[in-house]
Amino acid sequence: MCGIVGYIGTQQAAPLILEGLTRLEHRGYDSAGVAVLGGSKESALRVAKKAGRVRDLTDDLPKRFSGKVGIGHTRWATHGPANDVNAHPHTDTKGDVAVVHNGIIDNASTLRAQLAEDGIDLTSDTDTEVLAHLIARSTAETLEARVAEALSAVDGTYGLAVVHADFPDRIVVARNGSPLLIGVGEKEMLVASDLAALIRHTTMVAHLEDGEIATLTAGGFTTYRADLTSTHRTATEVDVDPATYEAGEHESFMHKEMLEQPDAAERVLRGRLDERFGTAHLGGLPMDARETRAIKRVKILGCGSAYYVGQMGASLIEELARIPADAEAASEFRYRNPVIEPDTLYVAVSQSGETIDTLLAVQEIHRKGGRCIGLVNVVGSAIARECEGGIYLHAGPEVAVASTKALTNMFLGFALLALQLGRVRDLSISDGKRLIAALLELPEQIGQVLEREEEIGEIAQVLADAESLFFVGRVRGFPVAREGAQKFKEISYRHAEAYQTSELKHGPLALISGDVPSVAIVPQDELTDRNVGALHEIAARGGPLVVITHPDVDLGEIECRRLDVPRSERELDPILLTIPLQLLAYRAALHLGHDIDKPRNLAKSVTVE
Ligand code: AGP
Repeated sequence: MCGIVGYIGTQQAAPLILEGLTRLEHRGYDSAGVAVLGGSKESALRVAKKAGRVRDLTDDLPKRFSGKVGIGHTRWATHGPANDVNAHPHTDTKGDVAVVHNGIIDNASTLRAQLAEDGIDLTSDTDTEVLAHLIARSTAETLEARVAEALSAVDGTYGLAVVHADFPDRIVVARNGSPLLIGVGEKEMLVASDLAALIRHTTMVAHLEDGEIATLTAGGFTTYRADLTSTHRTATEVDVDPATYEAGEHESFMHKEMLEQPDAAERVLRGRLDERFGTAHLGGLPMDARETRAIKRVKILGCGSAYYVGQMGASLIEELARIPADAEAASEFRYRNPVIEPDTLYVAVSQSGETIDTLLAVQEIHRKGGRCIGLVNVVGSAIARECEGGIYLHAGPEVAVASTKALTNMFLGFALLALQLGRVRDLSISDGKRLIAALLELPEQIGQVLEREEEIGEIAQVLADAESLFFVGRVRGFPVAREGAQKFKEISYRHAEAYQTSELKHGPLALISGDVPSVAIVPQDELTDRNVGALHEIAARGGPLVVITHPDVDLGEIECRRLDVPRSERELDPILLTIPLQLLAYRAALHLGHDIDKPRNLAKSVTVE
């Protein structure tokens, strides 16, 4: 989704901003732009913007583009097509004000009509342009007051940065529902929508809260409420190694992040397992044992892959804690006017902590008096702050659009939650110990699957040539199949559809042929025989088969490519069955020559509806 970078200080702003924008490329975008103040005429505002990549913009940047104050943007089209005109920054008619904006102005069409009635000629199709005109026509004394006045007319979400030729010593920024971070340097200040754009310059960072406005000058920053009373925010040191934002020797971030999974898995478990009592200790849960016992239901909410891992989590909770649990797509939840129950524990799950649908689902729960905890990777993100507590995933920064290590840690986060809930209820100490022993083995077992990349790569080449594929699994294996299909379609652009194996004969079997391969999840469990039966049905119709299974499973004479993963405890098997599917998707996309970290049409964080 859209990205923002701003700079004010002693260096040339444009190169620094463009470099920062390239650090946000993984978020997904279709055009980019930059505005600087300064140069020979101290307050001249110059703007360059273009559809396409940041590198296209960099190549075409006018020679005279100097200035030590500037803002830049990568746009992911919402209002109007991706073209040069709709790219940000947007300016007012005179060209004194430039604005970059993430989010959506809901009442943009009303504001556009009002501005047009007042004789203002709007040049783009965007919602953002109205902000530039509203700020330009304010007569308030300070830029902060002009921005606040413009924002008071606006409904919607924003993270925005503004420069004005009449106020060349500052950038004014504001946030409502779309993240903004201020980076503090030596006689220089930065602003960005993502830590990735700041981290090479500074680790002193302040998070802006919703409803706040801030002024950045070369010497520091000041934060205000909408009425311009001060909020006295200070920057703190973030503990992130800049190397985690580099792909290093890997050809893509996705590859790097898949291989980081054993370490990431160890991190999420570290210090949270109590082997003596066979339980987990999650310091961030806002319930004592009595409250935990009173939970009657668990409802998990997430989007895309986070939703599928949520389904795995619901199974874990139901099996271990014997609490009815299910997962639902957060993007649908609030639109069906859900009944919120006081004895239900709601769980929002999100890597980025920014996904707008998940955030709005949490807000809907709160509006109706419900209680929601978060399973979130990004510390201090919007969803993490909106929840009453929860479990941080400690996967480290995830850059690739196709999520891998964060999903693995979500699964492990759910395992910890299920263990703790289970042990407060009826899970025996021996079962708790059995699961802890298995959890402790998982990082190494994940590593063992990752070592088989080359073998999986050969299978992936065959699958990559198919236009359409099925991923099938049952019960615990079904969310695994859904996640496998999701990963495959995201980066290989092949049509990949997940079905319950049991549903095949109710319709999809009609599509099975020699051209439509199936990837079947067949763990060693109570359903193995039935699953193997379904494989016979697929094979009998000439459907090519790849079977992700366990060493003891007898597939008889079925013609297939077989991939065995190590066994864990039955409840934890889904995560080990998921890892080869990541590699399968990755190697298929590699074979097809796709841009793995920037799949077409997709963004890392979906911050608009
Ligand atoms: C995962 O590979 C996808 N890119 C996507 O489905 C993602 O899981 C979803 O958009 C939710 O993101 P979140 O975890 O940041 O909330």
